Amino acid sequence: MKTKIEEYLREVDDFKADSIEKLEEFRIKFLSKKGLVPALFADFKNVAPEERKEMGQLINKLKGSVQEKIVSIKEGLETSPDVASAHLDLSLPAHAPLGSRHPLSIVRNDIIDIFSRIGFTVSEGPEIEDDFHNFTALNFPPDHPARDMQDTFFIEKDPDIALRTHTSSVQVRVMETTQPPIRTISPGRVFRNEAISARAHCIFHQVEGLYVDTNVSFADLKQTLFYFAKELFGEGTKTRFRPSYFPFTEPSAEMDVSCNICGGKGCNVCKYTGWVEILGCGMVDPNVLESCKIDSKKYTGFAFGMGIERITMLKYQINDLRLFFENDLKFLEQFKASY
Ligand code: DAH
Repeated sequence: MKTKIEEYLREVDDFKADSIEKLEEFRIKFLSKKGLVPALFADFKNVAPEERKEMGQLINKLKGSVQEKIVSIKEGLETSPDVASAHLDLSLPAHAPLGSRHPLSIVRNDIIDIFSRIGFTVSEGPEIEDDFHNFTALNFPPDHPARDMQDTFFIEKDPDIALRTHTSSVQVRVMETTQPPIRTISPGRVFRNEAISARAHCIFHQVEGLYVDTNVSFADLKQTLFYFAKELFGEGTKTRFRPSYFPFTEPSAEMDVSCNICGGKGCNVCKYTGWVEILGCGMVDPNVLESCKIDSKKYTGFAFGMGIERITMLKYQINDLRLFFENDLKFLEQFKASY
């Protein structure tokens, strides 16, 4: 009898159950009326008197450990029933949907990439600017009508503090602190007091470019921007320059690229001209160099500024600017494969 009980004790010790049904079978096997424990008690009358004490203790020990086992397994199953019955692997990684880059970030990174290949660094400036950096140093005289070109969000008046209306303010900040040679582009957010529509927004993004050194000419400007347009829109892209006006450049121009939607044949995006304007540019006005303490007799430079939204719309054939700011997943998820 002793070896039998010790065998049962080992069995109870080793027993595991991952369901209530298996645990119930175990209880019936040992504790039900016809189970092993009552059978041992029934046999007890045949045990020799000198062994009774030891056998009685062993049978009670067996009964106690069966009961303890049932309670502890039951507790485990009740606190995490799913885990026990479904064999869940808790070490598996969580299901997390993959994000994608915003189209404006994709195009901004493309632009940075293209200019960094020809030696341009990236510089940044504050979004809240004073009058000097946004206007005065850029050759906008006080009360000059050129200031009306840009509808400004003022934060404070006298002295004027405003949200920057263009990233040209970063040119000023770079030239104030760096002597030529300077070759830098400045991507960033800009703000204008404009009604929101499919073609305009009060917040948008620009990239400013600046190149200042000895002997910089308009030919350098043209070749740099020609290289840029071909890299961004493809080898067959054509460019043309039209005279324009900006207070901070002289001479000034605007650059058009051949419409990459109709290939120059004419469509509603290029208003049937075959050309779309993508940036303003020019030779840095000597007054601007002098405002920033750069010797305009020794150095010349060119500058350019482009809107990232406009270029992204052309590149991906997007016809409403508001889509960039609405965070609609149906729109954003289309750019998953792009980067
Ligand atoms: N700052 C101009 C704008 O916001 C863009 C621009 C034009 C920048 C000509 C330049 C430039 O640096 O040379 O419309």
